[in-house]
Amino acid sequence: MTGKTRIKEALTAAEAGGGVTVQGWARTVRTGKGVTFIALNDGSCFSGLQVVAEPELSNFEEVSRLGTGAALRVTGRLVDSPAAGQRYELRAQSVEIVGPADESYPLQKKRHSFEYLRTIAHLRPRTNTFGSVFRVRSSLAQEVHRFFADRGFLYVHTPIITANDCEGAGELFRVTTLDPAAPPLVAGAIDYGADFFGQATGLTVSGQLEGELFAQAFSDIYTFGPTFRAENSNTARHAAEFWMIEPEMAFADLAADAALAEEFFRFLCRHVLDQCREDLEFFDAQVEKGLVERIASIADAPFAVMEYTDAVAELAKAPVKFEFPVAWGLDLQSEHERYLTEQVVKGPVFIVNYPKEIKAFYMRRNDDGRTVAAMDLLVPKVGEIIGGSQREERLDLLTERMQEAGVNQEGLWWYLDSRRWGSCPHAGFGLGFERLIMYLTGMENIRDVIPFPRTPRHAEF
Ligand code: 4AD
Ligand code: MG
Repeated sequence: MTGKTRIKEALTAAEAGGGVTVQGWARTVRTGKGVTFIALNDGSCFSGLQVVAEPELSNFEEVSRLGTGAALRVTGRLVDSPAAGQRYELRAQSVEIVGPADESYPLQKKRHSFEYLRTIAHLRPRTNTFGSVFRVRSSLAQEVHRFFADRGFLYVHTPIITANDCEGAGELFRVTTLDPAAPPLVAGAIDYGADFFGQATGLTVSGQLEGELFAQAFSDIYTFGPTFRAENSNTARHAAEFWMIEPEMAFADLAADAALAEEFFRFLCRHVLDQCREDLEFFDAQVEKGLVERIASIADAPFAVMEYTDAVAELAKAPVKFEFPVAWGLDLQSEHERYLTEQVVKGPVFIVNYPKEIKAFYMRRNDDGRTVAAMDLLVPKVGEIIGGSQREERLDLLTERMQEAGVNQEGLWWYLDSRRWGSCPHAGFGLGFERLIMYLTGMENIRDVIPFPRTPRHAEF
């Protein structure tokens, strides 16, 4: 095999004339009088390379009858293309059919709905839309690490199997090796003492609690990993398995937390504008008109901040009818969040200082005694994209709050220890990676921004 060239490199070669070997899949095959054009795509960029095959090829007959989806290795010479919209095309000297595809290949030319493509999630990465989605996803993931590395944050791998329910919402998927048909029982209840870990365990809903321990040793840390929630909500914004980025900073308060969140978010907006431009232009043309301009405007303007109390007042006087009630002390629903960011602020907004009863036990109590130093970043189209807070670093107030919230202190003795010795103010947040991708691509369903989505009743691929 000759040295292979990615199509992205071939298309950006300094000049025509070079000999290259490329490998990829035929997106379209058009045969005219004595010539066959193959649009070859290898996923390295949105554009394909047009391969021009002529009768001199030893297997021209076969090549002219190739089907969409075939895997090919093509060697030839790059020449300036007479066709509009592409700089070069490849005059084929040999076309090796590595893996043929016949008419039963489901991705023939016509456009398919996203719903249908979900049923063939094993093939959809070969389409234009999903090619762009997953290139953007990969690029953003790498950029997340760059952002934190450049700022001296330690990257920590927090456990996936855990005995704690960080958010306290009871959404842990169980992890067990007990026989479901005949679990050992003690007084009628399952005896998890006899289970693999000697206690009840599940898949983590968040790496935050362990992240806090590391922040109190390394100052600034972040996690970036999969999290799991057995939340039976079938919405376009919830997945049972999603990826979350969770930075945590020692010696930091809520204002520093919001400042980091804003810097991070705008940094990622600028990244896709600069580095994922071809894919973004496609989304702008085919998925959401005005996407590029929307992202560019976010990258430049400061985010608004609104007190929860003021947000409730805005909602109470809204000239629209909400499905869920609005009152001080109630949690904000998606419809409320979207109204605030889309209609009131018309841009990203941090809602801060929520009533303590509707937030997790670890958030720091404010001096008013009834709110906590929480922040949610809401953005148009998606709603809540970041949730964070300053943490309660005072042991007495933390245990008091755990008691109120019914959180088992025994199981979290190690978390409480961090408040016994060298406790310091600290804060962090979680950015939902899929919601970020939805926001930056215009894709409206979380199932379409994660390779193989896990949602209620769906774990096939
Ligand atoms: O607001 P959440 O639940 O916050 C936490 O988990 C904190 N421990 C974060 C922290 O302070 N370190 O989740 C954070 C973000 C949400 O804002 C949302 O973007 C995303 O995670 N998220 C989900 N994304 C997809 N599917 C779900 N079921 C999600 N639940 C939360
Ligand atoms: Mg939240």
